[in-house]
Amino acid sequence: MVAAGADLFGGGPQAVRLSPGADAAGFRDAVRRLAAAAVPPERVIWSVGEAPGLFGTPEAVTDAPALALPRGVGDLVTKVVPHRDPERYALLYTLVWRVLHGERRLLEVSSDPLVHRLERMAKAIARDLHKMHAFLRFRRVEGEGPERFVAWFEPDHHILAAAAPFFVGRFRSLHWTILTPEASARWDTVDLSFGPPGRREDAPATDGFEAGWRDYYESTFNPARTNLAAMRAEMPKKYWRNMPETAAIPGLVRAAAARTETMIERVPQPAIKRDPVRAVAAMADQAPESLEALNAIIRRSEPLVPGATQAVLGEGPLGAPIAFVGEQPGDQEDRQGRPFVGPAGQLLSRAMAEAGIVRGEAYLTNAVKHFKFEQRGKRRIHQNPTAGEVSHYRWWLERELDFVAPRLVVALGATAVLALAGRAIPVTRARGPADFGKGYSGFITVHPSYLLRLPDGAKDEAYAAFVADLRRVGEVARELAGGP
Ligand code: URA
Repeated sequence: MVAAGADLFGGGPQAVRLSPGADAAGFRDAVRRLAAAAVPPERVIWSVGEAPGLFGTPEAVTDAPALALPRGVGDLVTKVVPHRDPERYALLYTLVWRVLHGERRLLEVSSDPLVHRLERMAKAIARDLHKMHAFLRFRRVEGEGPERFVAWFEPDHHILAAAAPFFVGRFRSLHWTILTPEASARWDTVDLSFGPPGRREDAPATDGFEAGWRDYYESTFNPARTNLAAMRAEMPKKYWRNMPETAAIPGLVRAAAARTETMIERVPQPAIKRDPVRAVAAMADQAPESLEALNAIIRRSEPLVPGATQAVLGEGPLGAPIAFVGEQPGDQEDRQGRPFVGPAGQLLSRAMAEAGIVRGEAYLTNAVKHFKFEQRGKRRIHQNPTAGEVSHYRWWLERELDFVAPRLVVALGATAVLALAGRAIPVTRARGPADFGKGYSGFITVHPSYLLRLPDGAKDEAYAAFVADLRRVGEVARELAGGP
């Protein structure tokens, strides 16, 4: 909101006071008034604070005419207003003034010191927004009422209002709050509202997902690729402590040199697996009469891939309308004996929730029932199953889906497609509704672990496309059920 002024457009200095933070509306009102009264930038004293002012209420100022400015100028104002620099309003008003007074194409002169400075400020805001989108982590809060997630974040600039719509789009169906030292944002699945500052201690320091993230990060951290300068440039240290997966960084970095030596010296472990030819032949004799009986057979069998401590069975109700088929259990799934509980599984759950699919009502399973890995020191490195290994497990998967009898089966990634279709089909080309030649309808989309591996700049778009696919999956399932 605009406030304060000394000399109501006489020849003296004009004091304009705006609300703390990013007061875009107040600034625009002030600019209209000042420009309409032909007050040059050098006569305006900009300040920020709560005191009431000469311009009064916002209604009182909107009668000043709108300014005819090139669109680029309006965009730059929007981008720069959240900057923390106390001079931002003065610089922006100077820009507007010059554009209105003969320099209409000023923004094209990037060598102009004012333009150069404002563009640098806009870039700083874009970077800050990117960091917030990428490094903010919600944690589940225990308590009554709907499940709620809270995140603590310290942006460099006043970007909360500009950043919040991104999280609305991404976590539309969740109740969440973002706390920052200067304001908070709250989303209740319908309305977005802004409130008072938060404190770090008001956000939970941990929740049940943390260990999974840390394990995942540790298992994907390659000590031979440690580049501290690049890590710090991408993710400044101040964000590390808010992110479960980065709490492990200092320890991993300290141990990197020694681990690299071990990697170089290490002789690969020969893995033990069951002879697939005999195993598949034996499967032909298996005639389980229920999913339970089939699962008992799978549980008793040794892996058909190297690695694994136990078989990870499918999970979900018989008759579930949708079945999701992944590749194979990962490290966490192998430890816990449940599908999709590690980082990729958590991402899948989140995307399902956003797409309106209730995880507990769907059936989740894998093409390969055992975690294929290579042991390197203490780490178990995921290995892709070969086409032969996928085909060895196919008999079980087909029986399993016969028993569950879903209307729609979703292949998550290339291995699932290979298992369901019996041949390799590129996911990027076949993404969407598919026919696997069975009694159910099919759908092909990417595997959630593919999203985790993407560079930060590409993650958001790919995640949004994944959620859009899952929404479509929900629609198709409803259509197949004869619903709206
Ligand atoms: N990836 C999969 O394909 N399945 C799981 O269960 C976990 C990760």
